[in-house]
Amino acid sequence: MKNIYILGIETSCDETSASIVKNGCEEISTVVLSQIDIHKDFGGVVPEIASRHHVKNISMVIEECFQKANLQIKDIDGIAVTYGPGLVGSLLIGVEAAKTLAYINKIPLIPINHMSGHIYANELVKPLKFPLIALVISGGHTELIYMKEHYQFQKIGGTLDDAIGECYDKVARVIGVPYPGGPTIDKWAHEGNDSYQLPLPLNDDSYNFSFSGLKSAIINLAHNEMQRGNDIRKKDLATSFQNTVVEIITKKTMKALKDYQVSNLIVAGGVAANKGIRERLIELCEKENIDYSFPDIQYCTDNAAMIAASGYHAYLLGYRASLDLNPKSNLELSNVK
Ligand code: KG4
Ligand code: ZN
Repeated sequence: MKNIYILGIETSCDETSASIVKNGCEEISTVVLSQIDIHKDFGGVVPEIASRHHVKNISMVIEECFQKANLQIKDIDGIAVTYGPGLVGSLLIGVEAAKTLAYINKIPLIPINHMSGHIYANELVKPLKFPLIALVISGGHTELIYMKEHYQFQKIGGTLDDAIGECYDKVARVIGVPYPGGPTIDKWAHEGNDSYQLPLPLNDDSYNFSFSGLKSAIINLAHNEMQRGNDIRKKDLATSFQNTVVEIITKKTMKALKDYQVSNLIVAGGVAANKGIRERLIELCEKENIDYSFPDIQYCTDNAAMIAASGYHAYLLGYRASLDLNPKSNLELSNVK
């Protein structure tokens, strides 16, 4: 059978990335240019600055990706590009680059939902097995998705307010950790003691999540301690926060697997890198005989390899975009056609 090479392009937030993936699972080359150091000073991503850097870097990133792969554009069967959700100005740069390459070289253009990319990052580890439950946890999303087949996404639950990664970053900020604070909180959570009492958020029978109450509880706790002139035990707070998050995330995920009678779990998104969540889910899945998969750490946060992996299945299913493709900042996963 002929090999299929997909070029993936990702610019939805603060990473400019291009990747070439063979047959949806074999990464040939990936280039990720992160702007984290630029946005750190502002405590989060500044959309206008992000788009300017995408403009400056996109051509260079794509060129370097081809050089590393030792391939040429004529070898590419489809160009998969993230067109949502994300920052509209950032998405636009990737979409325009992909459209230009597709038009000039007469290559099919494949529209990709960023969240599907996070899910398909798992195909770079091993083939997805259906039916499955996907736990999608990132800076912008916290969702439980039921998938009966490739590209059939049924959202069964999600956050009612803040996304989990956003909550990690805000808690980190309160205790003086620079953006993005998730990885440091995760590290500290393994070094402290669970000595702060925190509320278990939205501890009900639904598959929904809520993190704003937990975030406010931590902000209030930090302010009260400061007003009393007390130091915050930062590592202990990280441990108590992470334990609370792990408990509610794993409880609802395991409930979804049980209720939907599914024995395959995949975890996706930037927060899938979290050691606490990984350890607890692995422990529970092994106990319950659930097959599980996490992307390799470098494919948890935003990258174009996951977009190309998703693009391969979209390509096989015949999904194509025309040259009037526009970015959609609030694109829903269920909207993927
Ligand atoms: O998926 P991603 O790269 O961007 C979005 O699509 O949102 O996720 C970035 C998020 C940030 O909030 C970051 O703090 C969080 O993932 N993150 C982590 C860890 N590594 C990255 N959160 C908790 N623990 C980690 N180890
Ligand atoms: Zn993402």
